[in-house]
Parts: sequence; structure tokens; C-alpha cells
Amino acid sequence: MKVKGIYFSPTGTSKKVVESICKSLSSEVKYVDITLPKKRSVMTEIKEDLVVLGLPVYSGRIPLTVDGYIKSLVGHDTPCVVVAVYGNRDYDDALLEMKDIMKERGFKTLAAGAFIGVHSYTTQVAGGRPDTKDLEICREFAENIKEALNKEGDLKVKGKFPYKARKTASPIGPVIDERCLSCGICAINCPTGALIYNGKLKIDDTLCIKCNACVRKCPIEAISFGGKLDPFEKWLIENCSERKEPEYFTL
Ligand SMILES: Cc1cc2nc3c(=O)[nH]c(=O)nc-3n(C[C@H](O)[C@H](O)[C@H](O)COP(=O)(O)O)c2cc1C
Repeated sequence: MKVKGIYFSPTGTSKKVVESICKSLSSEVKYVDITLPKKRSVMTEIKEDLVVLGLPVYSGRIPLTVDGYIKSLVGHDTPCVVVAVYGNRDYDDALLEMKDIMKERGFKTLAAGAFIGVHSYTTQVAGGRPDTKDLEICREFAENIKEALNKEGDLKVKGKFPYKARKTASPIGPVIDERCLSCGICAINCPTGALIYNGKLKIDDTLCIKCNACVRKCPIEAISFGGKLDPFEKWLIENCSERKEPEYFTL
């Protein structure tokens, strides 16, 4: 079976989960990493037998950054698996939204999974996840996907329509401190072009999605949100520290 694994993964947890599921499904997997803008500029017709799409949950929805790309995928009644990776708060309507978009694009969703990844804002929430136990559930999920391949029907997943409203907040962007080496690694890894390095780093707060790729990738921790995410971190630590477990739905 030929499988295409597609993921957007600024801090690497969605990538880990998608890779773990795909590896257990087949030895013929092609990955498309749509984290960086240049990878999202082409329309993708899926020729494989199965597509596994994995996205992080942002405010209970799919990240707006990849909305256009996902809506440009083309399937021909192609079997598909949707995977939402969230930071131990909730995945709300993300799986339903993914399933609905994929249906419109010519895919039939036979399985959906919600997995937990360390929260982008703070390693104090779901730190170390996905862990060994999560990856074992990825493998178990893959076995269930194989069984669902021959089944027909409309998959039921958790989620409501209309989906959770997207929040509009005033722009927040990262700040660099005096230790910055001007290596440009943060800019190379920015999924939205909010950081541009041209010998000097330029930050456009209006493009920043607070994914924290820059913070995690900086080799010397010289970039941060300078305390601007502290209230959210505090709320998350107080309210979302109790371990949640992955959930999946299959035909
Ligand atoms: C802007 C933003 C919004 C987020 N919203 C949620 C959310 O609604 N629920 C949740 O549990 N985690 C939320 N998270 C955390 C991510 O879903 C989680 O950390 C995920 O593992 C990140 O995936 P990645 O490592 O592939 O980038 C949010 C993260 C960001 C940056």
C-alpha cells in the first residue's frame, strides 16, 4: 500500500505522530512536510492509496496557515486518515473540520485520531509527549486503520458545526535578546515568514502565529515571547496539567 503522510508541525510533535502511524501502516510512505511556506505553494493531487494528514490544533481548529493548502488537495474518493495533535487542553472541532474539508476535496475519511503533544507555549504542559505510551497507541491505531480500509460508511468523530469561532487577538511576536548570534536559524524555521533574516533579523508581529518554532529551534535560547505569553502559560499549567490520553475513531 502506498501512503502519503502530510503534516504541518512547527514544533515537531505532529510530525512524530504522523511518522509513527505511517511507519506502522506501510513500508512505502512518502512524506510532505508543509511547515514552511514554500512547501505550501503547490496544489497536490494524491495518487497514493491512502493519505494521513496530521495537524496541530490551534484554538480548537486547524491552523489557518494551512487552510488554503488543505483546500487545494485533490483526491479521487481516496481513503484518508485525519490526525489532530493538541497540547492537552482539547481538540474541540479540529478533527471534524479536517474530515469535512477532506470530504469536499474528494477523500473518504475512514479513521481519525487525536493525540497529545507538548504544548507549544510551555513544556510544563504535556512535556515529553508524544511519549512511548502514545507511540504505542499510534501503532495500535494503524492496525485499526488497516481493518477499516475495506469498510464503507460515514465516520463519526467528536466535534460540532458551526466550529469554534477563531479568536482575533492583537499581534504578539517574539523578541531577541543581546546574546543573539544572528545565525538566522529562527527565520529559516518560521512557518509564516514573520521572521526574515537578511544579515539582520526582522520580526513582523502581524504574521506571527505564536507556534514557537523559533523559540524551540534557537540553539542558545536567545529568542522568546518576553513574557507576553505568561498569562496563557499560567492558565494552561493551572487547568490543563492532568494527563489526557489519545482517542481515535475508525469505521
Ligand atoms: C496558537 C496556538 C493555539 C493552540 N491551541 C491549542 C488548543 O486549542 N488546544 C490544545 O490542547 N493545544 C493547543 N495548542 C498546542 C498545540 O496544539 C500542541 O502543542 C501541538 O502539539 C503542537 O504541534 P507541533 O509540535 O506539530 O507544532 C496551541 C498552540 C498554538 C501555537
